[in-house]
Amino acid sequence: MRIAFYSAKSYDRDSFNLYESQFGHQITYFEAKLDKHSTSLAEEHEVVCAFVNDILDKQVLKKLKSRGVKLIALRCAGYNQVDLDAAKEFDLPVVRVPVYSPEAVAEHAFALLLTLSRKTHKAYNRVRESNFSLEGLTGFNLHGKTFGVVGTGAIGRAFCKIALGFGGKVLAYDLFENEEMNSLGIQYHGIKELFSKSDIISLHCPLTPETKHLINGEAIQHMKDGVALVNTSRGALIETKSVIKALKNRKIGYLGIDVYEQEEDLFFKNLSEQIIPDEQISRLMTFPNVLITGHQAFLTKEALGQIALTTLNNISEFEDGKNLTNQIG
Ligand code: NAI
Repeated sequence: MRIAFYSAKSYDRDSFNLYESQFGHQITYFEAKLDKHSTSLAEEHEVVCAFVNDILDKQVLKKLKSRGVKLIALRCAGYNQVDLDAAKEFDLPVVRVPVYSPEAVAEHAFALLLTLSRKTHKAYNRVRESNFSLEGLTGFNLHGKTFGVVGTGAIGRAFCKIALGFGGKVLAYDLFENEEMNSLGIQYHGIKELFSKSDIISLHCPLTPETKHLINGEAIQHMKDGVALVNTSRGALIETKSVIKALKNRKIGYLGIDVYEQEEDLFFKNLSEQIIPDEQISRLMTFPNVLITGHQAFLTKEALGQIALTTLNNISEFEDGKNLTNQIG
């Protein structure tokens, strides 16, 4: 099938090129993000392949349908960027990659945490300038800490196992308890109890109307002083203004984020020559105890390979009129 591939980066081409011929599809790569201005690129393609910050609202879906698109193939797990009701109305099936490498994301959450806890980013810069002083590099152990994990799906579970490996105590919150987690001795608690008992809180639930601003001023009040908060899930789980306030009064001791509420206008682009108009991310970047990465938790060789394979297979199922294993909505 002919695939219009939006928001294409070099690493996408590398992984999809490896498998493209195996599935017999033809991919046209577009650097443009999908929005109401770029739907014309999809002309003469049956499939649109989109990523996390592409816009798939009603207006865009309607335009894609009128241009002859028959399938939306997301090359990501989250689908909060898609108006599923509109997709249904326009008879546009949506498929995704539900699991590619939960460990990739969980390990990145720990990369953020370990950088914050041991200040390796500062040490790296110091040593390169022959500054071997240890002043200001005092960290804290993960061993013996209480980890609060919100969402024990594929990524949350991988995170829990790593936390146990560090010798942590793990508490969890989810709408559904997971038997494997129970068998590992992980206790499920109410969200407020998890907030009040955890030294480290890591978010792994999807962004839904219920979870938007899960971490707001009230939630932060329940947390321990100096708590470490990690978000590799979706930016809007956190109400950024409340977190900035809590960083200023030291209620939050550490913040590691791979996702940001307003990331659509920033992430996946080189803006180093520009003035960033976003006041909140600019403020976050000034804190010494805040670490931000630009939505790269998924970015490992293993995960990219699996994303390409599953996406191309999803498209082949559609082409062959088979049941769509990874359809949503
Ligand atoms: P999953 O679907 O396997 O697990 C999500 C879990 O959250 C489920 O156990 C579900 O019951 C739970 N959940 C749903 N609503 C909840 C609520 N209101 N409160 C508490 N728990 C709730 O998803 P997976 O693969 O673990 O991914 C989690 C999230 O990670 C995705 O939704 C996505 O937003 C994000 N993600 C981020 C990536 C990155 O590169 N930073 C890459 C991949 C996913």
